[in-house]
Order: sequence, then structure tokens, then C-alpha cells
Amino acid sequence: MDPRLEANRSNWDDRVAIHTRSRFYDVNGWLDSSPGPSPEEIEALGDVTGLDIIHLQCHFGMDTLNWARAGANVTGVDFSPAAVKAAVELAERAGLAERSTFICSDVYDAPNAVAGQHFDIVYVSLGALCWLPDVASWGSVVARLLGPGGRLYIHDVHPFAAAFDDGGDQVEFSYFEETDRPMVFDQDTTYTDGAKLSSTTTYEWNHSLGEIVSSLLSNGLVLDSLLEHDWTVFQQFPWLIEGTGGRRVIPAGRPRIPLTFTMLAHRPN
Ligand SMILES: C[S@@+](CC[C@H](N)C(=O)[O-])C[C@H]1O[C@@H](n2cnc3c(N)ncnc32)[C@H](O)[C@@H]1O
Repeated sequence: MDPRLEANRSNWDDRVAIHTRSRFYDVNGWLDSSPGPSPEEIEALGDVTGLDIIHLQCHFGMDTLNWARAGANVTGVDFSPAAVKAAVELAERAGLAERSTFICSDVYDAPNAVAGQHFDIVYVSLGALCWLPDVASWGSVVARLLGPGGRLYIHDVHPFAAAFDDGGDQVEFSYFEETDRPMVFDQDTTYTDGAKLSSTTTYEWNHSLGEIVSSLLSNGLVLDSLLEHDWTVFQQFPWLIEGTGGRRVIPAGRPRIPLTFTMLAHRPN
């Protein structure tokens, strides 16, 4: 494995034990409240009963299992063995094990890891693409995982916001993909509350919105919608304030910039 991805994997292995115990993810609250997908996700994808959904970079499976609650058969893929183990345990605890499968694999190997199976929906949720050095290859993976008529739904951090420094005041990183020049961080904290990390070095990559869209179009997908949002769901910048429904929003008086984006695309029949 690419040593940069190896370092990222150690870091994510480390984060799992912290995240599953964090107030941020609130696993017990999630088990009690049994949520389904978000209203925006349901509006975009409609009734998923009986559909096969693959969640790329599923972490410990909360977002994945929300779709199982909505009636889909879900497959979660993540390269962190600790994340996959925690996801399997969470599925058991949530009573959703029968409708869920979790596989330990790098995203780029996902089509092999599922032995060529095709899915109705490829789903990707916040904090995914920045971990991938090459978004064009990701587009090819998405196209190979979708059956004819299958759809991609992605909600992720906007690359414009990702180009800013920690304070959210100045552009520090490239907006465009630079596979050989990753953003290198050395941080002993994660985005949730909880203990310190021991594997602290990570490598991340920005991909411009144009590069993300092109990765899909050049692999034969059709773009159905692309929305840019001035909200996110974590404290990406210190000046974000709490909005409704757990969102973090830009305070009045500050320039509005895109913080996340949602894209819907499909593979033609
Ligand atoms: C920010 S988390 C996704 C979080 C998810 N939206 C959630 O809240 O549960 C990113 C995930 O990507 C996974 N990941 C990073 N690089 C990967 C790769 N190359 N292949 C597969 N999974 C990867 C990490 O292990 C981690 O679980």
C-alpha cells in the first residue's frame, strides 16, 4: 500500500475507539432514536426499500446503517479494520445485521472486494474524497460499482472550503488536485471530543469541483444535480455558529462561502 495511505489507515484505526465513545457520534443516542437517512437524502433518493446500496468509506457504519433502517440492503467499505469491526458490532446492536455487510478494502479495490457486484446506489458521506490521492480513479470505481440506471449520491466537504487554513481566514492549500503534493498534517486530536491519537500524521488531497464532476462524466455517468451549501455539520472553522438541526453555519455579516456540496449522478441504462 502507498505509505501515505498506510499512515492514514493507522490514524483512522486510532480514531475508531475515540469516535465510537464520543459525544459527537453519540452511539447510544443513535441506537435509542433509530434515525433513518436525512430529509435531504430521502428527497434525493426516494424510497430505497429493497435496493442495494454501497457506502464507500463507511467509517464505523452509522450513515450506512441509516439506509438499512430505510429498507435497503447495505454494503459498507472502509480500509480501516478497526472501523469495519466496529461497524459489524454496531449493526448487531442495532438489529440490522441481516441487511448489512461490511468489507475491509481500500476504495480503489472496492470493485474487486465485492467480486464485481453491481449496486443501485453508490453513497458517499462527509469527509471522504480528501483521503484519496486521485479523484479520476475514484470516478472509475463509482462507474464500475453501479449497475445500469444506478445512482451516485455524494455529500462532502467543498474543496473551496478545504483550501483554507484552520482559522478559515486565508487560502493555504491548493484548490486543485496535486497527487504528489498532499496536505500533510500532524495532529493528535480528531474532529470529535475524546482522547488523543497516537498515529498523528495524515496525508490529504483537495480535488476541485471540476475535477470531481469530470471524474464522473469521463467514466460515462450523467450529472443530475450539483448543489453547493453554506453549511456543514462539524466545526470546520472556529467562527462557524450553531444553526438548526445540528448544522454549523456562517454568521451574519461574514461572506458566504460553500462549505459542503451534494451531487447526484447516474449511470445510463
Ligand atoms: C471522515 S470518515 C467518513 C465519515 C462518515 N461520513 C461518518 O461520519 O461516519 C472517512 C473514512 O474514510 C476511510 N478511508 C480513508 N481513506 C480510505 C481509503 N483509501 N479506502 C477506504 N477507506 C478510506 C477512513 O477509514 C474513514 O473511516
